[in-house]
Amino acid sequence: MQKGKVYIETYGCQMNVADTEVVFAILAREGYSRTVSMEEADIIFANTCSVRDNAEQRIWGRIERFRQEKKARKGVVIGILGCMAERLKDALLDGGVVDIVAGPDAYRSLPGLLDEVSRGAQGIDVALSRDETYADIMPVRTDRNGVSAFISIMRGCNNVCSYCVVPYTRGAERSRDPHTIVREACEVFRLGYREVTLLGQNVDSYSWTDASGRTVSFASLLGMVAEVDPMLRVRFATSNPQDISDGVISTMASHPNICRHIHLPVQSGSNRILEKMRRRYTREWYLERVAAIRKAMPDCGLTTDVIAGFCSETEEDHALTLSLFEEVGFDWAFMFQYSERPGTLAARKYPDDVPPEVKTRRLNEIIALQNRKSLERYTAQVGRRLTVLVEGPSKRNPEELCGRSSNNMMCVFPSGGHSAGEYVDVTVESCTSATLICSLA
Ligand code: SAH
Ligand code: SF4
Ligand code: F3S
Repeated sequence: MQKGKVYIETYGCQMNVADTEVVFAILAREGYSRTVSMEEADIIFANTCSVRDNAEQRIWGRIERFRQEKKARKGVVIGILGCMAERLKDALLDGGVVDIVAGPDAYRSLPGLLDEVSRGAQGIDVALSRDETYADIMPVRTDRNGVSAFISIMRGCNNVCSYCVVPYTRGAERSRDPHTIVREACEVFRLGYREVTLLGQNVDSYSWTDASGRTVSFASLLGMVAEVDPMLRVRFATSNPQDISDGVISTMASHPNICRHIHLPVQSGSNRILEKMRRRYTREWYLERVAAIRKAMPDCGLTTDVIAGFCSETEEDHALTLSLFEEVGFDWAFMFQYSERPGTLAARKYPDDVPPEVKTRRLNEIIALQNRKSLERYTAQVGRRLTVLVEGPSKRNPEELCGRSSNNMMCVFPSGGHSAGEYVDVTVESCTSATLICSLA
């Protein structure tokens, strides 16, 4: 039976992008269709993020916008999904705009919740699960290029980094059956995709024990996916410095189609702050892991996340973060000011005592240093030959193509008759701090 048209806005991390694709698959089975236009949708969902306060503020702004849509078009259904739904629960239903609230483990309930709404009620399901991985669901891909797909390999998180809301919004860690992961990788390859990114909050703690008692680790899962086809590139995120193993590093090194890139969030360069953050590694451990990665794969790209102005951070702590950035030389970094999240350990135990202007100044110092380092790292590629997986036309110039190198740098180059999904050899001619400008090799 033909049901309504569903429009979903997705915020937050790649896990949410993957989840939106699961939601479309669950609804498609029930007869709902997808639209990319809010104006023609019968059902409007926002898949939300709670990681920092500004992420939530953005959603409140969108809820205001949905209120107008509802006023203009009677009968439009509004739903809040994802991490903010899990965190704020029925409080989101106040105010009469939102009809449905569904947490990250409740997406199978969505058809039922929509039925309740059609009977004039509100629908809410924010139960977290110990075993839901949506393993049997083949997501409806929403990417634009048909080249690169996300595959969720686990859900939740068992760490308790003191600043982080994710364990509260996504629940306990659980791994997905590896056979369903490999099957999904084969399926997307058959559809023409040439790159998969395996997703989890802490991929190195992936672990699956099958009926015969054999355990599949993340290193073995990576190998299994890499063996789907040598023409399928494999990426993954996120690695936790405390857990990234020699096994993972050597599996990468022995499979040329596992991309030479590791996203390794450091958060701070100060051991005192790392301990307060409940990150279970030290600066020295982190630097040793970086050295081990670079020894095994000298060309491996490294990116990171960092938080400026965590509780009690001093100028000395901040200087240690700057010196770590100087020492490692990341290709790129996601840099944030600390944002206190209600209910987290840090919110309960430590005052948020670094003044906002100091947080901003420290963040700007990290950004300035990282911009210089990015330019250095990109400049070091000039003259090299790289293999790029074409993603599509470049944003600036439709005559040119863009795509990423194995070490995850964005490349632009003349199209030369190539198209999305092909591998193309290029020579790097020049660069900015975020793009390699190449010729066809
Ligand atoms: N699982 C990943 C991170 C997920 S959240 C990991 O462990 O690395 C993505 C990033 O958001 C984090 O790496 C951190 O840098 C940032 N972040 C998380 N909570 C934050 C907070 N309360 N304030 C500012 N940044 C935060
Ligand atoms: Fe949050 Fe830490 Fe888990 Fe990452 S590992 S999601 S930062 S609790
Ligand atoms: Fe945000 Fe939830 Fe991802 S809080 S970063 S959408 S896990």
